[in-house]
Amino acid sequence: MDIKRKLQKNKKLRNRGRKVNFEVRDKLVELLEVSRYRRDHLIEYLHVIQDSQGHINEDYITALANLLKISQTEVYEVATFYHHFDIIKGDEKVPPNLTVRVCDSVTCEINGANQLAENLNDYFKGTVRIQKVPCIGRCQSAPVAVVKFNPIDNANLKNVKQAVDAKEYNPSIPKYINMNEYIDNGGYKLYSSLKKNKIKSEEVLTELENSNLRGLGGAGFPAGKKWRILKDQPSPRLLAINIDEGEPGTFKDRFYLETDPHRFFEGMLVASEVVGIDKIYIYLRDEYAAVRSLMEYELDELRNKFKDQIPDIELRRGAGAYICGEESAMIESIEGKKGMPRLRPPFVAQVGLFGRPTLEHNMETLYWVRDIAEKGAAWFTSFGRNGRKGLRSFSVSGRIKNPGVHLAPAGITVKELIDEYAGGMLDGHDFYAYFPGGASGGILPASMDNIPLDFDTLNEYDCFIGSAAIIILSSHDKVVQAASTTMSFFEHESCGKCTPCRVGTSKATKLMKESKWNIPLLNDLATVMSDSSICGLGQAASNPLKSVIKYFPEELKK
Ligand SMILES: Cc1cc2nc3c(=O)[nH]c(=O)nc-3n(C[C@H](O)[C@H](O)[C@H](O)COP(=O)(O)O)c2cc1C
Ligand code: SF4
Ligand code: FES
Repeated sequence: MDIKRKLQKNKKLRNRGRKVNFEVRDKLVELLEVSRYRRDHLIEYLHVIQDSQGHINEDYITALANLLKISQTEVYEVATFYHHFDIIKGDEKVPPNLTVRVCDSVTCEINGANQLAENLNDYFKGTVRIQKVPCIGRCQSAPVAVVKFNPIDNANLKNVKQAVDAKEYNPSIPKYINMNEYIDNGGYKLYSSLKKNKIKSEEVLTELENSNLRGLGGAGFPAGKKWRILKDQPSPRLLAINIDEGEPGTFKDRFYLETDPHRFFEGMLVASEVVGIDKIYIYLRDEYAAVRSLMEYELDELRNKFKDQIPDIELRRGAGAYICGEESAMIESIEGKKGMPRLRPPFVAQVGLFGRPTLEHNMETLYWVRDIAEKGAAWFTSFGRNGRKGLRSFSVSGRIKNPGVHLAPAGITVKELIDEYAGGMLDGHDFYAYFPGGASGGILPASMDNIPLDFDTLNEYDCFIGSAAIIILSSHDKVVQAASTTMSFFEHESCGKCTPCRVGTSKATKLMKESKWNIPLLNDLATVMSDSSICGLGQAASNPLKSVIKYFPEELKK
């Protein structure tokens, strides 16, 4: 019996779920304005609905499932996975039209974010939704709030209220080096020379290998080695660029994109040429609205300049999920699915995006390609301190006078970084502790201020540098509080795929809020989480907790 007759006969097998509201479906068709619906664009479509309605109700989910010819459950599961979609069921109350997000991660927290959220709630009394969110990548201006898409640096009741009253919902676009200015300063010469075979791919690759540039997304895998692995994979090969930048304390990618985006684009094109890439996907975190806007514009400029000389490039928008920075979760998200990490092997270099071999890179790794190829590996390795080589872009925030992205020699110590680059400690603040690698990299006491900051150098202290996000705490802060805030963050962001992380982060969050810590139980939890979680989130989530127990026992004595 064919499937149609089977369905007619058997009521139980008929398509179940909500009926399509055709009025909503027609509206959606108009809203999406596409000639062909693509399953992998599901998240893009959900953004269109969320942006236009301020939420997504079930009728839209049903209509979208109908247009994409997939199940309603599939759309619902994806939509509810991402924090930036407000799913409204049945008669549920819709959220107020306007949302103000207040970052409550460590740097903003120590700068009064919780009080700010309370003040905003008291003032707006429900007319505006005040939502606490994890780090939005502007920690140098903490505390930070976002009025719809408009980030408010050094936020307070007055400047947030002003933006709300004036309906200033969009970000201002920073002044950056545009395409013409970039070209006037020698930009795209390298790429053109490669295309014309004046420079050989092998020369660029050798230079990259000799520079020992390591992946700047956190894992530190040598970039040249990765390119060589990819070159040997069957085509078509894809390039997926990670600008999720969700690690609390990290804002270097945004800084480079808001100042010199074409340097990154050129690195991306050079990588594509050397490795033989057929299509490029750029995954940008949703919080970076200004970057999205300037990148859309500059990518068009790039396409106009190079026409069919460059691979097809798609810019994709994240939707507020930290786990989508993990490379395989990002790939799932680009495919329009829930951002859950994949089990490995196979590695994404072999079976990645849409099942193809994929070169996956942090944006900043590609940003350095032009300089290394033009100035030589020896230029890059001429920097460095304390036996380490190269340069690092440190995102420095917290209790220092000059927070921001500081480009410094690899291997610099935190003391040197504070004194020489970050303007010293704030007046009235004594250096007490630091996160050497964002929320995941652990916490060290000020007494250990002479460790070279680089890949591998912190391992013996159960810490790591990751994306080089340095958060400085002072005598005004408590490490127990900072560690507890980071554990809540991991609980919030755990994708739930594996039990040690899902249950571990939740249990640890509760235990760390207690006035007296159950140290044996917390130690057990930390071991299980780091030994048996599937991905880096669960494996690293207990680092700050372990640091408190190991380096700050006096805070636990009370
Ligand atoms: C939980 C988690 C979050 C991550 N977030 C990011 C991120 O926001 N940006 C990024 O480039 N890499 C992030 N990574 C690292 C990526 O998985 C991957 O190693 C990196 O993008 C590879 O590029 P690279 O070799 O150029 O560093 C994250 C890893 C984990 C485990
Ligand atoms: S470790 Fe956490 S984030 Fe990673 S797959 Fe498991 S549940 Fe998801
Ligand atoms: S923007 Fe608030 S901690 Fe990063």
